[in-house]
Amino acid sequence: MMKARLALLFLLATPVMGIADEIPLDPFSGLKMTGDWQIVLGNCIACHSPKLITQQRGTREQWLQMIRWMQKKQNLWQFTPEIEDRILTYLAEHYPPRDDQRRAAIPRDLMPPNPYAPPTQEPEDAG
Ligand code: HEC
Repeated sequence: MMKARLALLFLLATPVMGIADEIPLDPFSGLKMTGDWQIVLGNCIACHSPKLITQQRGTREQWLQMIRWMQKKQNLWQFTPEIEDRILTYLAEHYPPRDDQRRAAIPRDLMPPNPYAPPTQEPEDAG
C-alpha cells in the first residue's frame, strides 16, 4: 500500500518533458522549469493563463515592451531592475522568436494595390 502511494506520488511529481529541448515543463503552468522560472511563475500568472506566456515568443526587447504595455494598461506592478532583468532573461532565452511564428512583412513596393485606399493624387503634370 505504502509502495503504491509512493509510486503514484512519484508519477504525479514527474514533470512533463519538453519535446524539443528536454527542459522539464512545470505540470501546473507549462513553464520550462529552468533558470528563474519561479520568478516568472510568481509574477506573471496572477491575471491570466500561463499559456498566454508559453504561447508567446519574442526578443528581450519585445518581451520588455509587452511588460511595459501591461504596466501601463493592465495594472501590472513595477519590478525592481534586478527582478525585471531576470524575468526578461528567462523569457528571451526560453521563449525567443520562432521562424515559423510569423512571416516577415511584405515590403511596401511588393504589396498589391489596396482597393480601399483613397484615390491617390496623380503627380502634377509639369507642363
Ligand atoms: C496585473 C495583471 C497582469 C499580470 C501580473 C501580468 N499580465 Fe500579462 N496581460 C495582462 C492582461 C490584462 C493581458 C491581456 C489579456 C488578453 O488580451 O486577454 C495580458 C497579456 C499578456 C500577453 C499577451 C500579449 C499579446 O500581445 O497578446 C503576454 C505574453 C503576457 N501578458 C505576459 C505576461 C508576463 C510575461 C507577465 C509577467 C512579467 C505578465 N503577463 C503578468 C495582465 C497581466
